[in-house]
Formats: sequence, structure tokens, C-alpha cells
Amino acid sequence: MARFWFCAAGAGFFLVYLVLHSRFCGSPVFREFVFQISWRTEEILYRLDVSWPKNSEYFTGTTFCVAVDSLNGLVYVAQRGDNIQKVLVFTEDGYFLRSWNYTVDTPHGMFAASTQHEQSVWITDVGSDFRMLWLHGENGTEPAKFNIPHSVTLDSAGRVWVADRGNKRIQVFDKDSGEWLGEWNNCFTEEGPSSVRFTPDGNYLIVAQLNLSRLLFVAAPPVGSIGNCTVISSIQLADQVSPHFLDVSGNSGAIYVAEIGAKQVQKYVPLNSYFPSSHS
Ligand SMILES: *[C@@H]1O[C@H](CO)[C@@H](O)[C@H](O)[C@H]1NC(C)=O
Ligand SMILES: *[C@@H]1O[C@H](CO)[C@@H](O)[C@H](O)[C@H]1NC(C)=O
Ligand SMILES: *[C@@H]1O[C@H](CO)[C@@H](O)[C@H](O)[C@H]1NC(C)=O
Ligand SMILES: *[C@@H]1O[C@H](CO)[C@@H](O)[C@H](O)[C@H]1NC(C)=O
Repeated sequence: MARFWFCAAGAGFFLVYLVLHSRFCGSPVFREFVFQISWRTEEILYRLDVSWPKNSEYFTGTTFCVAVDSLNGLVYVAQRGDNIQKVLVFTEDGYFLRSWNYTVDTPHGMFAASTQHEQSVWITDVGSDFRMLWLHGENGTEPAKFNIPHSVTLDSAGRVWVADRGNKRIQVFDKDSGEWLGEWNNCFTEEGPSSVRFTPDGNYLIVAQLNLSRLLFVAAPPVGSIGNCTVISSIQLADQVSPHFLDVSGNSGAIYVAEIGAKQVQKYVPLNSYFPSSHS
């Protein structure tokens, strides 16, 4: 099952398992970025939370990825650059907690995997001689083949959604059998998806498009039918913001977006009228 979805180690590519250690940040460098946000479609699902984080001066590098530990209300950010803290930890409320610069060289993606007993986060580190080998599927354009599989997420029906960025599509598989269930390409004719995550209610798939600096909200299909994809809403970020990865809080439904162009992570919160069951 899950073995299909792990990247095998290649030269210079490794997964780093980090059990958290408290390490407080040294002298931060102040940076400020201001971007105008406009909504492209009528159905507005989310708004920017300008008060997150409280201290943006900790973003001193290129923020490649973000992961939410919903169990502990934490947001991890990994950034690239020389002589900087590589991993930053904030609360979902926006307070900076700690950072560290060891064990991580060139972070690319990450996900939080905390249990009741241990806080942990997995980080993909690409170092030099970047190479990714997927056990399931080889490079190509046919079904179940990939060209830059960039992000993966699961839905509650046990389907695996893979952002096949280079092929400008999302491919869907059964988690247990690995069976190919379908693909979406009609929403991605301009640019492939860089990051995919579901809203906690499972109603929408949120997709980041890097060069278009855009987030799409796509209606999640019913079980048993992948069909075509339908964009319900979108958020157009300013030019060059370049959203690379995003993650969603299981608590509030908030979306955290790691922007490699803007060199910051921003938070979007759901408008309650569209998410009557959300907690905040
Ligand atoms: C990590 O940061 C500490 C102080 O903040 C610094 O002394 C050390 O050289 C840094 N290490 C790396 C590998 O950047
Ligand atoms: C994968 O295939 C695409 C075309 O299908 C090609 O452009 C790309 O260079 C290939 N990538 C690798 C790593 O071989
Ligand atoms: C974004 O643009 C750069 C520069 O033109 C290009 O190399 C890269 O492949 C593009 N990425 C995507 C996801 O289209
Ligand atoms: C998707 O849309 C295309 C073009 O409108 C249509 O031909 C096709 O039948 C649709 N596929 C599904 C699975 O609905």
C-alpha cells in the first residue's frame, strides 16, 4: 500500500526524520513583503490572514515548504539559503516558537507526522545531484507514469492524488491496490499542479500553480467517479509570488502557503459562511 508512494533514496536525495529538539533562534534579519491579493471568481471561500505570522522577520531564506501538525497546532516552515535557520516552527496562532539549522541542507517538501506521544516532521532534502525514484510508475506521459510527481495527498475514500506537474495533470490511484483510477487535466492546460491538499471536510481539493501564482479550489468528485475537474474558486496571488507547497490545518481549515518567490509563508482562513462546520 503506502510503499508505492515513497520515494526511494537516490544519490544526494534522502528523507530526514527529525524528532524535534528545542532550539531557539539566533539574531533574525528583518524582511517585509507586501502583496496585493485579488479574487478571480465570485465564490470566495478563503481570505488572507494578514496577522499571521506575528513575526515575519524569521523568513530569512527561500521558503520552499510548509507542514501543519494539526494535533499540536504547529506550523513548520523549511527554507533554503546560506547561514540561516533551515526549519522554523510557529503556532497556528502565528507565534514563533523555535528554529534549527542542523540536519537539513536543501529542503524541498515536508509533512508533519505527529502522534500523541511524539512530535515529528519529515523533510525531503534534495542536496546536490537531485534525483527522485518513484517505486510506482516511471517517467512518461501514459497513465500511471509521471513527469515530476511533485505532491501527493490522500482522501477519506482511500484514493491517492498525485500532482504530476510536468504532465500538467493530477492522477488518482487506489491506496491499497495501486490501481489507476483516473486523471484530471482539463484544469491544468496552462500549468501543472505543484501542490495538492484537501480541505478538512473533503469538499475541495486545493491546488497550487507555481508560475501562475494561483491557488485553485476544485470540487472533490464523488467516490467511484473521477470525471473532469471543476474549478469552484481561485485565489490569484501577485506576480512572482510562486506558491510552491501548501498544507491545510485539520483544526481550522486554514491554508498555509509556502511562497518561494515572495520568500514567506502566508495563511488563508475559510469564510465561515462556506464552512458552517469549521471550528473557527
Ligand atoms: C547554526 O546556527 C548557529 C547559531 O545560530 C551557528 O553558530 C552555526 O554555525 C550554524 N550552523 C550552520 C550549519 O549553519
Ligand atoms: C520525462 O519525460 C518527459 C517527456 O515525457 C521529458 O521531457 C523529461 O525530460 C523526462 N524526465 C526524465 C527525468 O527523464
Ligand atoms: C516555471 O517557470 C520556469 C522558468 O520559466 C520553468 O523553468 C519551470 O519549469 C516552470 N514551472 C512550472 C511548474 O511550470
Ligand atoms: C470531460 O470533458 C470532455 C470535454 O468536455 C468530455 O469529452 C469528456 O467526456 C468528459 N469526461 C468525463 C469523464 O466526464
